[in-house]
Amino acid sequence: MSSPAPQWRCVASLSDVPAGEAKAIRIGEGRSIALFNIDGRVYATENQCPHMGYPLTRGVVRHGILTCDWHGRSFDLEGGGCFNSECDDLQTFPVDIRGREIWIQVGDSQYRRRDEHLRLLWEGLLSEDRWTISKAIALLLKGGVAEDDIVQLILRHIGRHIVSSHEADGGKDVARLINGLNVGRRYQDADRLIALTTAACSAAGQAAERLEVVPLPEPVDRDKIDRWVRMFSHDAQSGRIERCLFTAHHQGDGEMILPLLFACAVEPYFLGFADNLISLGYLSEVLDLFGWKESSELIFNLGAKLVGRRRGEPERFRRDAVSMMTSMVPSIEEAASHASANQRIEYDEEAFVSAVGSVNIQKSFDAIGTVLAADIRLDRLVTTLVLLAADRMARTPVNVDAGWGALTTELHLAASLRTAQRCGGATVAAKGLFHAAWQIFADRWLNIPVRPLTEPLSGEKLNVPDEATGVRVILDSIKSLNVQDVGRQVLGYLNAGYSGQTLLHAMGRIILWDDTSRQLLPTLRIVFDEWEQCHGSDPALGAGHPARFQLLVGLARYATDIRTNKDSQSAATTAMRFAEGKTTVEVFEE
Ligand code: FES
Repeated sequence: MSSPAPQWRCVASLSDVPAGEAKAIRIGEGRSIALFNIDGRVYATENQCPHMGYPLTRGVVRHGILTCDWHGRSFDLEGGGCFNSECDDLQTFPVDIRGREIWIQVGDSQYRRRDEHLRLLWEGLLSEDRWTISKAIALLLKGGVAEDDIVQLILRHIGRHIVSSHEADGGKDVARLINGLNVGRRYQDADRLIALTTAACSAAGQAAERLEVVPLPEPVDRDKIDRWVRMFSHDAQSGRIERCLFTAHHQGDGEMILPLLFACAVEPYFLGFADNLISLGYLSEVLDLFGWKESSELIFNLGAKLVGRRRGEPERFRRDAVSMMTSMVPSIEEAASHASANQRIEYDEEAFVSAVGSVNIQKSFDAIGTVLAADIRLDRLVTTLVLLAADRMARTPVNVDAGWGALTTELHLAASLRTAQRCGGATVAAKGLFHAAWQIFADRWLNIPVRPLTEPLSGEKLNVPDEATGVRVILDSIKSLNVQDVGRQVLGYLNAGYSGQTLLHAMGRIILWDDTSRQLLPTLRIVFDEWEQCHGSDPALGAGHPARFQLLVGLARYATDIRTNKDSQSAATTAMRFAEGKTTVEVFEE
């Protein structure tokens, strides 16, 4: 269907714009247009500077170039072309003088700047400029561009960025990107924009060209690739792994890649490298969301860097743990080979928790060996570890160093075992339990006493008249950094029977708007997921578990303790208003 012809409209009289001057006029529903009377000719442009929205009527015109008075971006007054980076072109309008009247052709309302704004987003990603990223995303969303198209560009960028600028630590950027997208889908409007922008900012940075990886010459079959990748992983030769993975994909064996990477990541010599499993979980999510075409470079490169990383000389405890786990591998594999849907979910959880928290790695590994041999469902064991991590976050002392980095790693690692099981199978998940147990042992310096996980928590109820007041009390504590009380308040709120989902959504919102959101996103997302499962119907996934409240208590304490009270509001809300054609034009003119 053809769009309606652009309309001409009379917008002013010549006497309104004296020679050498500029005037702002409003058309339609308040759109601000700048008229310039320069050297005997009238020009019309958008009045909102495409950089940050300053009114261009306050700019200066020299030799046909309009220069904004705020940050000095300049534009061709006639065609609108911008001469600077991180700023798109200025929209200009044809002008016709009819007698003493100024007529302009304002165009229709169709959005035609998709490619220009995608390019702007790419520019912002390269320069790591939060404002440019926020603005480009706001404009694209306002123009009706699908969120998936925006995310695909971000994903292409992060693939190239990690290839050129990161080693295995690039997984943290992928985590923030994926979790930002996931959390953002739970919100609307400005909240969603800030989640998306925060996710995009995590992907920002240099992205250099590189030589293309090419497949190994034939004949290479999948057995060889499987063998070689395991060997290169053992020998810490990441570059060779990447070419093997590329070859597998090229030969149509793409489905073997993630299970193989997971199998490498749970080898005993990777004890202490928690981010292997965590990052592989996010890479598998990237693949689920975007397919191989968009994800292959990122998965091959980062996957190879993760499982082909150098491990250094292990210290005494780790060396002993590696050798202990190595000796248990045959029995782990034997137990995992019997895993079936009929396994039990009832088991002595207290004995297991007590052993894992005992600061004795032998006892801890033996306890895992026992529950595996006893045919307990793996996802039931993962649930225990997730809730144990949350419980430790809920109880860690905050007077000196609460150890949030270590504690959130415990939580993320435990939760990642769900994906490990889905992608890598029972053996991978079973071995992953040892990695989670090692992490708790390695965090022994936190000195968090063991407590029975199934023991009921304090039954005290928050003394508020209703749910909304309860939420407000807790949010006030988070905002005022009242970490001493916030945990007790969350517990009291939940004990009173108020909705955890409502509270979590409200907490997530203020987390998103604080400038610690980038750091908190992965934990926020995990708590969203795990809380939902705890309110499902499967006890193996935590339904009805007495420790489930600790997920929200731990999150609230973490968000409060690391909060800065510097919100990121300005960039996202200004970007939203900018996309609406508002912002500083109104501030300066009204
Ligand atoms: S240059 Fe115009 S608002 Fe920055």
